[in-house]
Amino acid sequence: MNTEILHPTSSVDFERAAGLIQSGELVAFPTETVYGLGANGLDAAACTRIYEAKGRPSDNPLILHIADLTMAHEVTSNMPPLAAHLLTAFAPGPITVILPKAAHIPDIVTGGLSTVGVRCPDHTAARRLIRAAGVPIAAPSANTSGRPSPTTAAMVYEDMAGRIPLILDGGSCRLGVESTIVDCTEEGALTLLRPGAVTREMIAAELPAIEVRIDAALTAANEAPRAPGMKYTHYAPRVPLTVYAGMGDDIRAALRAEFLRRTAAGERPAVIASNETLTALRAIIPAEHTYNCGARGNHSAFAACLYDALRCFDDTDITSLLAEGTGADGLGLAIMNRLRKASGGHVIYV
Ligand code: TXA
Ligand code: MG
Repeated sequence: MNTEILHPTSSVDFERAAGLIQSGELVAFPTETVYGLGANGLDAAACTRIYEAKGRPSDNPLILHIADLTMAHEVTSNMPPLAAHLLTAFAPGPITVILPKAAHIPDIVTGGLSTVGVRCPDHTAARRLIRAAGVPIAAPSANTSGRPSPTTAAMVYEDMAGRIPLILDGGSCRLGVESTIVDCTEEGALTLLRPGAVTREMIAAELPAIEVRIDAALTAANEAPRAPGMKYTHYAPRVPLTVYAGMGDDIRAALRAEFLRRTAAGERPAVIASNETLTALRAIIPAEHTYNCGARGNHSAFAACLYDALRCFDDTDITSLLAEGTGADGLGLAIMNRLRKASGGHVIYV
């Protein structure tokens, strides 16, 4: 299959993409978080193709993408008041709410669960596509299962070339990490299943009287996560990754020592770190073995380039990766969650 990359400009382009969705084909599209791999969310056969194209386990449910809040009411059997509140406050935006599913949503979308994840992306191209298709669009991130999520059309092409007919190109995704997932199915309480750019602090500020729990699996390695997808190896670069978290000076000392140790052992490590850290280490780490993820403490800058950093050494002779972690405040919780998973839990607190 020939995979076309199209920068959509007119309604003709969106109608063509929507036509593919309506006829059961897959279309990759940009959102403000990462690129999605979309299919008609009401068509079980089309959704099966998503799992095939990604090599994704079929017990890992898909998120339904909607163009407006009216559509949210059409995919749930009963809109929980807390979910309605979150959608009003943060949608369109990087939040996915878990709701009781409506009977007509196919089981393949929800992995057999009685709940469904729903999200309204804050991206014009995504919403125009959904509107033109006239159905909720089921879409996971548009990567091969296990790989870092794509944040450009070129990254989607890397993973999906030959498997899907069309990629809508919307440039680089603004946020760079997947949406915050909040389970809203329990009365009076919310549980954060995956951290993202709608932070725990933002939810707590919006709903001060409500307890915002954090799924235990986000912080403890040995807990089974409640978002099925969070249990799989994820976001993994092709070579092993070790993450260093703590104070800037301590991280620099640890990175320096480990870089020198590995180099002396004949390995070719690369370092993903802040501008400050790379500047401090530039005498020993050659620039071509580094990825600069912006000013230390600038979580938005780091999130926006995180998956590019995890992918960019794939086709080089680098044999391992060392990364500087962030604090766990705000968006830092999402960054550390992805780094923890990408490293298979190899996070060292120095
Ligand atoms: O930002 C995003 O959310 C991106 C863009 C494309 O919208 N999508 C995305 O989809 O990250 P995906 O499939 O890569 O991740 C969806 C996560 C998985 O961990 C899945 O297990 C969880 O959402 N999930 C989906 N439905 C669920 C449900 N009913 N209950 C619990 N977790 C659910
Ligand atoms: Mg994904």
